[in-house]
Amino acid sequence: MIIRPRVQRLILNRIIKSSLVLFVLWTTLEVLSIRRALTFEASKPPPPFGNQKIFIASLHWTDERVLREYWVPAVRQLAQDIGRGNVFVSVLESGSLDDTKGALRDLDDQLTELGIDHRVVLDETTHLDEVTQARDANNKGWVQMPATKSYRQNWTDWFELQKDSWVPRRIPYLARLRNQVMEPLHQQQTKGITYDKILWLNDVVFTTADVQTLLATREGDYAAACALDFKQAPHFYDSFATRDAQGHAPLTDTWPFFRSARSRNALLRGQPIPVASCWNGMVVFDAQPFYHTRSSSSGLAFRGIPDTLARKHVEASECCLVHADNPLSAAKGVWVNPNVRVGYNGTAYEAVHHAGTWPSAYAIATGVWRNRLVRWLRLAGARVDRVVGEKLREWERGGPADAEPGAFCLIDEMQVLLWNGWGHA
Ligand SMILES: *[C@@H]1O[C@H](CO)[C@@H](O)[C@H](O)[C@H]1NC(C)=O
Repeated sequence: MIIRPRVQRLILNRIIKSSLVLFVLWTTLEVLSIRRALTFEASKPPPPFGNQKIFIASLHWTDERVLREYWVPAVRQLAQDIGRGNVFVSVLESGSLDDTKGALRDLDDQLTELGIDHRVVLDETTHLDEVTQARDANNKGWVQMPATKSYRQNWTDWFELQKDSWVPRRIPYLARLRNQVMEPLHQQQTKGITYDKILWLNDVVFTTADVQTLLATREGDYAAACALDFKQAPHFYDSFATRDAQGHAPLTDTWPFFRSARSRNALLRGQPIPVASCWNGMVVFDAQPFYHTRSSSSGLAFRGIPDTLARKHVEASECCLVHADNPLSAAKGVWVNPNVRVGYNGTAYEAVHHAGTWPSAYAIATGVWRNRLVRWLRLAGARVDRVVGEKLREWERGGPADAEPGAFCLIDEMQVLLWNGWGHA
C-alpha cells in the first residue's frame, strides 16, 4: 500500500499532537501527586523536645551580621525551649575579620543570665597566624602549592603563593576546630552528664520548630539527620558534603537534586531521604559514637583525608568524612529531612518558606524533567568521578596501609587556608 505524502503528514501531525497531550497529562498528574504528598508531610506539626538532652555545637568565622540579626536570638530561644537542664551550647570562633566576637559575647552573656550551660571560645588566633606559624616536623595538615597562584587581597590588590611553598590545608584546620568545639561534651561526661543528640548549627536562619522537626526525623532513629540549606534559593548550597544513597554528589543544585533513585523517590514523597552523607547548615547526630568508651577509646572525631592523598589534588569535607567514619551510619542511616530548610540569610530562608507548598508546581514540573534529562544524557558527574577515581587508585597502590573509607566524599580540588579566608590551589 502506498500512503500519499499528504496522508503521511497528517499521521505525523497526529502522533506529535498526541505525544504532546500525553506529555502534558503525564507531567500534570506527576506534579499533582508530588504536591499532595509534600503538602501532607509539611502539614505535620513539629513534635515537642520531650526530655532529650541536646548538645549544640557551632563554629564561626566572620559572620557577625547573620549572628546579630538571626542566629544569636534563635539559639537563645532554642536553648530556652529545650530547657535549662537539657541543653549545652558550645561555640568556637577564631580570627574573624569583623566583630563576630562581639555578637558571640552577647550570646555568652545571655546564656549566663538564663543559667544555660555553655562554653563560648573566642580565639585570638587569626588565619594569618595559621598560615605563618611553624609547621611541625612532618608537615601534618600542610601541602605544597602545585603551581603559583594569585588570590584577591581586597577589591584592587592580589597576592601570590609561589609554586612549592607550604600552605596549611583548610579541611584539617576545620576538623581540628570542630573537635575543639566537642571538648565540653567530654568534660560534661566526667561530671556524669551525657547527651542524647549533638546538634551542629552553621550560621543559618532557623527556628525552634525547624530543630524539633529535624530531631523527630524517623522518630529519632538515625545516625544523623540533616536539613536542606540555601544561600541563593532555589539553589541548594552544601554539595561538598552531600552524597546520595549511592554515594553520588548532587546531580543539580535545584530540586530534586539527587541522582540515586532511592534518594530522589523519598524526596518526591516528602519522606526522610536516605543518603551516604549530608551536613546542610544543620545536622543532628546520635551522640553515642562520639563518646569515649572502653571499646572505642577515642570516639568519633572530625578529620581530613591523609596529606599523601590530598597531595594528588583531591579533597573531602570533614563534614562528609565523619559519616564515613561513624559506625552507626550503616546501622541507623544518614537522612536528609526535606521538611527542614534553612537559609544563610533572611532572603534565602523566606524563599523556601513562602506560603503554600515548597517547591512550586512549576519548579516540580521543570525539576523532574531536568533531572531526567541530566541522568539520561549523563550530563553530570562522570568526569569528576573518573578523575578522582584514578587518583585514589594511584594512591592506594602507594602502600598496603593506604585506604580511605570516605572515598565517596572525594572531589577534584585542593583547598588551602589563606590569611584572609581560604582558596583553591
Ligand atoms: C542574601 O544572600 C544572597 C546571596 O548571597 C544575596 O543575593 C541577598 O541579597 C542576601 N539578602 C540580604 C537581605 O542580605
